[in-house]
Amino acid sequence: MSAAISLKGVSKGFLDGERYREVFVDFDLAVAPGEIVAVCGPSGSGKSTLLNLVAGLLVVDGGLLNLRHGGVDYPLHTLDEAARGAVRRRLVGYVFQFFNLIPTLNVLENVRFPLALNDRDDLLPQARERLATLGLADRLDAFPDQLSGGERQRVAIARALAHEPPIVLADEPTGNLDAGNSEQVADMLWSEVERLGCVLLVATHSEAIAERAHRVVELGR
Ligand SMILES: Nc1ncnc2c1ncn2[C@@H]1O[C@H](COP(=O)(O)OP(=O)(O)O)[C@@H](O)[C@H]1O
Ligand SMILES: [Mg+2]
Repeated sequence: MSAAISLKGVSKGFLDGERYREVFVDFDLAVAPGEIVAVCGPSGSGKSTLLNLVAGLLVVDGGLLNLRHGGVDYPLHTLDEAARGAVRRRLVGYVFQFFNLIPTLNVLENVRFPLALNDRDDLLPQARERLATLGLADRLDAFPDQLSGGERQRVAIARALAHEPPIVLADEPTGNLDAGNSEQVADMLWSEVERLGCVLLVATHSEAIAERAHRVVELGR
C-alpha cells in the first residue's frame, strides 16, 4: 500500500542570525495508512519542525513531501501556502502542545470550527458524541480559560478529530499534563485514532507514549 505520508531526501533548516542551521538533511520517512508513529528525540532535534512540514505550515528547502489520501497525491513541496492550507484543513488534524484553543469560543464552538471550515456540519453529531466519550458532555458551554489542562487537551483532541481527517499530528500532547491526565488523554487519543483508522504522528518525550506507538522514529541532534 502506498504511504499516507512520504518524505524523500528532505532538507530543512532555519536562518539563525547569519548562519543557516540544518535540522533535516536527506531525511526519509514513510508512514502507512493507519500507522501510529512516535517521533522522539531531544529538544531542538526537529520534532515540531517535522510535524509542521507534514501540516504544510512549513515548507521543505529540498526534497519531496507527499500526502496521499483516497488515491490522490498531495505533493506539498510543489504547493503554495494557500493550496497547502486547503490540504491541511481537509486532511490534517493538529493537536498542539499548548492546546491553541480559540479563547473567545466555547468548547462546542471550538470543536465546530473545523467543521465550518470544511463545510462538514454533517459530522456534528459524531463530534458531540466524541466530546461525550472524552468526558466533556457537561462542559460544552465552558470557555477554554474555565477548563483544566487535561480538559483543554481533550477539547483539542475533539477539535483535531472533528472533521475525521486521515492524518492526525500531535505535538507533545501530554507534555503539560500530570501522569494521571497524560495516561487518560493518551488512552482517549489512541482509541479515537484507532476507531477512525487515521495516521497518528505524535511527537513525545514520554516513554509511555512511545511504547504505545507501532513504531518510533528517533531524531538526532
Ligand atoms: N521558526 C524557526 N526559526 C528559526 N529556527 C527554528 C524555527 N523553528 C525551529 N527552529 C530551530 O530548529 C531546530 C528544531 O526545532 P524544533 O523542531 O522545535 O525541535 P523540537 O520540537 O524537537 O524541540 C531548533 O534548533 C530550533 O531552534
Ligand atoms: Mg517541539
